[in-house]
Amino acid sequence: MLKGIVLAGGRGTRLHPVTSAVSKQLLPVYNKPMIYYPLSVLMLAGIRDILVITRPDHIGQFRALLGDGEHLGVSIGYAPQEEPRGIAEALTIGAGHIGDDPFALVLGDNVFHGPGLYSLLHTSAAELDGCVLFGYPVSDPERYGVGEVDAEGRLVSLEEKPAAPASNLAVTGLYMYGPDAVDIARGLAPSDRGELEITDVNIAYLKQGRARMVDLGRGFAWLDAGTHDSLLHAAQYVQVLEERQGIRIACLEEIAYRMGFIDAEACMELGRRYGGSAYGAYLMEIAETA
Ligand code: G1P
Repeated sequence: MLKGIVLAGGRGTRLHPVTSAVSKQLLPVYNKPMIYYPLSVLMLAGIRDILVITRPDHIGQFRALLGDGEHLGVSIGYAPQEEPRGIAEALTIGAGHIGDDPFALVLGDNVFHGPGLYSLLHTSAAELDGCVLFGYPVSDPERYGVGEVDAEGRLVSLEEKPAAPASNLAVTGLYMYGPDAVDIARGLAPSDRGELEITDVNIAYLKQGRARMVDLGRGFAWLDAGTHDSLLHAAQYVQVLEERQGIRIACLEEIAYRMGFIDAEACMELGRRYGGSAYGAYLMEIAETA
């Protein structure tokens, strides 16, 4: 069974002064805290043992929101990242949590939404040997890690923020790894920007011929919420879909219920806890009708 890590660190510099007193990953994306979105991906993958890595001074805020996860039928622990020293540092900070298990890492400001996500996650986890990346076609690949795959989905090239991208497939902030990723991360040297680059971990797997990349494809939404504009875009996306379909995206309590992590009574109780809000009413409706 996969373990899970959400990396919710960083200074949120691009969002100052909004993030001066609050963690970026706790800001609302429309009607729920940002971290609900990446957490929903881990839960959809069936992951019930999750570590949230964040700034030491933010751990209390996340704990106030998510507790130990028991109400969602999962276990949520917390670990500090003292300074934003790169995504790959999450692997060394999370080493004790990972142990000898494969795991998924997701960035705390990434929103994934689209058809077939559940199956994609489960198939990818079942086939995991080395690493699985999730590629997404973008119009500005030079801003991201960019990968190229062969006909079998094997990663054949990977470059971090290339001036001349080999494809339009950006590497998104969701990664699946075998437990050996921890040793790879421990052996990394900091990059020119002084960070432990997740791309270097992925290149190590590429060199071993053990890296795959799944194309999320058009029709899927991958949004990050790291700037004022992208945060607003993500909120608008969620608002449009939720209003049109009467569903809720990344509703953790609903996912916990549908995944069988909690029962209908517990879902109802959570709805009551948010009593008076539309969110609470939605949960009670789910518990009654699903
Ligand atoms: C990081 C990774 C990059 C990836 C991106 C996804 O970039 O280094 O490979 O495509 O996240 O959001 P950063 O946000 O650190 O510039």
